[in-house]
Amino acid sequence: MNYALGFDIYGTLVDPLEMNQHLRAFVGEDADQFSALWREKQLEYSFRRGLMGKYENFQVCTQQALIFTAQTMKVEISSFAQAKLLEEYQNLSAFADVLPGLHELKAQGHKLVAFSNGAEETVRTLLERTQVLAILDNVISVDDLETFKPNPAVYKYLARRLKRPMNETWLISSNPWDVIGAKSVGLKSAWIKRTPDKVFDPWGIEPDLVATTLEELAMSFRK
Ligand code: 2OP
Repeated sequence: MNYALGFDIYGTLVDPLEMNQHLRAFVGEDADQFSALWREKQLEYSFRRGLMGKYENFQVCTQQALIFTAQTMKVEISSFAQAKLLEEYQNLSAFADVLPGLHELKAQGHKLVAFSNGAEETVRTLLERTQVLAILDNVISVDDLETFKPNPAVYKYLARRLKRPMNETWLISSNPWDVIGAKSVGLKSAWIKRTPDKVFDPWGIEPDLVATTLEELAMSFRK
């Protein structure tokens, strides 16, 4: 059986916490803490904007979260340096298992798309630089609907764009909130548990598959 697979990007295909490398120049050994708070706030801003119906794209959420984090951590980052950091956000590298895993899944006959809260143009640049774009069949962004995951509408939109029934459409994500969002509207979902100590939200909604890498995911689909 072949499926339509929608891949979350940040945390699943690329690691946003890798921004810590660029943050070291500003905050030294607090770079890990900075990048974690930045990511947390970026997500919170997207969730809040979605709930409030005050959409601004993910790039805006990322930029405003950067300003918030710098202010919280009491560090001066000039507008020029902020722009450079945001540019680096489109330069994140893919996890080592991503290219081989996607190639294997493609060889198995599945349809592969990126499915992200990120705006299409931004994520296309990122995916092109990581050589992921060439393997994918398409890039689908929530920007088309002007709201964010985990709004149920965006997961239904994924299945609609892929022209597949909900139960043959998979969301592949390392983010538990994303997996739960997809499952709760009837999609299938695989959780990519990239770190052993990552906790899945205890909501009574479980992923259909758990894998630590995309290569392991491809092996599960072969069975
Ligand atoms: C995504 O790529 C934000 O990780 C989330 O959609």
